[in-house]
Amino acid sequence: MKSCFTQYILCIGAGYVGGPTMAMIAHKCPQYRVTIVDINPERIAQWNSDRLPIYEPGLDEIVKAARGRNLFFSTDIEKGIQESDIIFVSVNTPTKTFGVGAGMAADLQYWEKTARQILESATSDKIIVEKSTLPVRTARAMERILFSTHNGVRFEVLSNPEFLAEGTAIQDLERPDRVLIGSRQTESGLKARSALAEIYANWVPQERILTTDIWSSELSKLVANAFLAQRISSINAIAALCEKTEADVSQVAKAVGMDPRIGPKFLNASVGFGGSCFKKDILNLVYICRYYGLNEVAKYWESVIEINEYQKSHFLITMLNAMFNTLAGKRIALFGFAFKADTGDTRESPAIYIAARLIEEQADLVITDPKALANAKADLKGIEGKVQFVEDPYEAATGSHAIAIMTEWRQFRELDYERIYRSMAKPAFIFDGRNIVDHSKLYRLGFNVYPIGKPALTHL
Ligand code: NAD
Ligand code: UGA
Repeated sequence: MKSCFTQYILCIGAGYVGGPTMAMIAHKCPQYRVTIVDINPERIAQWNSDRLPIYEPGLDEIVKAARGRNLFFSTDIEKGIQESDIIFVSVNTPTKTFGVGAGMAADLQYWEKTARQILESATSDKIIVEKSTLPVRTARAMERILFSTHNGVRFEVLSNPEFLAEGTAIQDLERPDRVLIGSRQTESGLKARSALAEIYANWVPQERILTTDIWSSELSKLVANAFLAQRISSINAIAALCEKTEADVSQVAKAVGMDPRIGPKFLNASVGFGGSCFKKDILNLVYICRYYGLNEVAKYWESVIEINEYQKSHFLITMLNAMFNTLAGKRIALFGFAFKADTGDTRESPAIYIAARLIEEQADLVITDPKALANAKADLKGIEGKVQFVEDPYEAATGSHAIAIMTEWRQFRELDYERIYRSMAKPAFIFDGRNIVDHSKLYRLGFNVYPIGKPALTHL
């Protein structure tokens, strides 16, 4: 029965992208019926419960308003495919861990399984939308699978990469800088492109809906992430130079970023970028460049990751050097474990690396984070060492020799550091991996302060 809805939309993959993206479509377009399916029944049960599987500001409200009205979460993938006109595929595309391309190429097994399942279950024509981030020319592989039998069902594959950032996903979806749609330049390709553009036109201004050929769209997504990560590695590389020359990286970033050709955003020096995508997408880009014999181009992009690895290890070495070259038995409080603020996601978080190295140094760790403690526990499972997880940052700091700020949570800026200083072992150290606290004030309170890319302020 398709009576009250003008369009049936399916999304395969109920993750950080599939959930919020589809919730926004359902929220903006009550005339469509939107269903999200996943192979993971636990995840679907969470989406159907009061406690959603991901934390994202503003997400609860729109999910709870649309759920059961025109937004549905289900494990019945076959039925979802049969009923739908448009299918978004938003499954994970992690870095391959085995075989050819291990550690570099995208693992497309989930993607391919989806293509086969669509082929198996579909009984009417469909538009298939690549929402996952994929290597350039993946649509060709998808087409080959979908066109491999002659059952009369026709498919049109589009590329529609997602540019949302975690923590701001809802505002990014509500007011996107652009929506990118890549299609074949055939009559049916252009028709499918219009059908997809029509969905977004319900709330996105026409001039922000950008259409391209399919390969340019696929590649643009990898390039956007590579450029963003490159800016962070660039400023982090300069931060290391600032530390040697007593320049201040924030002032350098400000001076440089005031040039409108450069711009001020994404120039915050840090302990390193994390998140599920920057590293994997650059590795993927590097792999593709090598595949096409572009070794110098591959090397150029690889250096963005190398600087990020350097940055994390440099942070750890700074801690070790500052604390008299021994961390054994010292209590160290990690403020934050999420890869960035306003998310519970810890994938590729620099905190995982720092925690593992501190444990190796036989430090006693105490980790606090407003939203990421469950993921932190899972990330450190199996690592032998003394680790505690506490919700209250004051409790975490009590008795600690050092605090290391890993995540730029607003809460950490607003703490009573005088109280914290009093509760700590002396000399008390603070390593600000995000440059978010007032360093001079903390120094005046008695802390030995180690920011990123600025002179350390120490009493020693
Ligand atoms: P995720 O791991 O959170 O979610 C993927 C979901 O797909 C999982 O729930 C998994 O169970 C499900 N899945 C896997 N195979 C399936 C199958 N055959 N059938 C049904 N469900 C299946 O991943 P994510 O963070 O949402 O990322 C998805 C894609 O979007 C990736 O390609 C990623 O690069 C891209 N992306 C992510 C972000 C982000 O902020 N996380 C932003 C832009 C793009
Ligand atoms: C990033 C991109 O910003 C999105 O456009 C893209 O859709 C997404 O990846 C993806 O493809 O998955 P996300 O990883 O969620 O989004 O978050 P970002 O805000 O980009 O932050 C990534 C990392 O860089 C975080 O660890 C953050 O703390 C760090 N960062 C960011 C810095 O260290 N300095 C900065 O100036 C900015």
